[in-house]
Amino acid sequence: MRSQAVKGTYDVLPDATPTWRYLRSTIERTLGRAGVREIVPPIFEHSEIFDKSVGESADLVVQKEMYRFEDRGGRSLTLRPEFTAGVLRAYVEHGMHTLPSPVKLWSLGPAFRAENVQRGRYRQFHQVNCEILGSPGPLVDAEAIALLHDLLVALGLPDLRVALGSVGDPEDRDAYNAYLREALEPRKHELSETSQERLRLNPMRVLDSKNEQDQAIVAELDAPLDRLGDAARAHLDGVAQYLSDWGIAFDLAPSIVRGLDYYRRTAFEIHAEGIGAQSALAGGGRYDGLVESLGGPPTPGIGWAMGVERVLDALEGAGKLPGPDAGPNVFLVPMDETAIDEAARLARDLRSDLHVQHAYVKRNPGKGLRDADRAGARYAALRGERERAAGVWTLKHLASGEQREVPESELRTAVLED
Ligand code: HAM
Repeated sequence: MRSQAVKGTYDVLPDATPTWRYLRSTIERTLGRAGVREIVPPIFEHSEIFDKSVGESADLVVQKEMYRFEDRGGRSLTLRPEFTAGVLRAYVEHGMHTLPSPVKLWSLGPAFRAENVQRGRYRQFHQVNCEILGSPGPLVDAEAIALLHDLLVALGLPDLRVALGSVGDPEDRDAYNAYLREALEPRKHELSETSQERLRLNPMRVLDSKNEQDQAIVAELDAPLDRLGDAARAHLDGVAQYLSDWGIAFDLAPSIVRGLDYYRRTAFEIHAEGIGAQSALAGGGRYDGLVESLGGPPTPGIGWAMGVERVLDALEGAGKLPGPDAGPNVFLVPMDETAIDEAARLARDLRSDLHVQHAYVKRNPGKGLRDADRAGARYAALRGERERAAGVWTLKHLASGEQREVPESELRTAVLED
């Protein structure tokens, strides 16, 4: 047996969990104040939920990145590779379209993709996900982007730039894909294997190639933004106007392509320097039509997901990670056998309002103080025969070394006073 986590997964160790609490409380505050409510969908769904949503040219499908299995009843289930499909399934299943519009939902949790593992790319990773459903106008697109921006700033990442683009309306995409097919088909043999496959399934995805030769070929062609239809262009201009009005810096990205097929019109990403090749902190876009494909009523929608690991990496680089949890207010040191039980009993009592730890075996003062120090305690309280006779504990403030005897009944107040 190998006692080792599965490749592409990792443990969040106790020293790191304060960061996760900080993340969650910052999300609750930032998104909560904008009326975004938390939703917790299951980690796996019927496979068809993803088949109907992510699209046949998505890497998830083409590169078989989904963790898919049959349960004992022969049902095909899939560990979620992203949240959007599951959240929209819940929206449809619970008739949330009858709620006041727009319906705003956030989630935090793990997602699973069988990808090549590298820095910033895991097989179990975590996303903060946000969806805004029910409103077709550019105002909610701008609000979605602003919320993502504000969340990253609140977490401690200033100086962000949003890459804002549009994948157009379906007819724009069809026309652009036709243009790309015509332009690229004669040069097909010069493209990488992945791009040749993408050219067949969804030519627009060729623009996303990291291959240098592919990029050089694509650079000579018109970008999607050059060929946007009037309606999609007006929508994009509307989003850009709001963001400018609100002082949110962005760059127009002429050929933003997202890894999932469900996007319509607005598409955006936020990247960070210094966190390696996988620099996208977050991405999202509008997906009008997706709720219908999942069996719901026509419902426009927009959303995004933030990669938690990449954001934490960027925060660490910026020296912005919170420190570990505070140690105990007091650490009790039993100096004889009788004091072991006394310490345990007193700890139970004081824990009603203090963080209290104690040694479980008899300790001499030197060892006991070292235990207290290692636990990060503020005070150590020692008890031996002499203290018992006087009904006191010897209370030592570890930073200053100051020491005094305190009656047991006053210990709580003494520790709290400081
Ligand atoms: P996505 O671009 O596939 O979009 O993922 C969003 C973010 O998740 C990425 O920018 C990245 O930070 C992080 N991420 C993705 N894959 C991995 C991985 N293997 N390891 C670590 N981090 C990763 C979506 O998932 C869409 N559902 C977003 C959305 C919501 N669009 C509309 N609503």
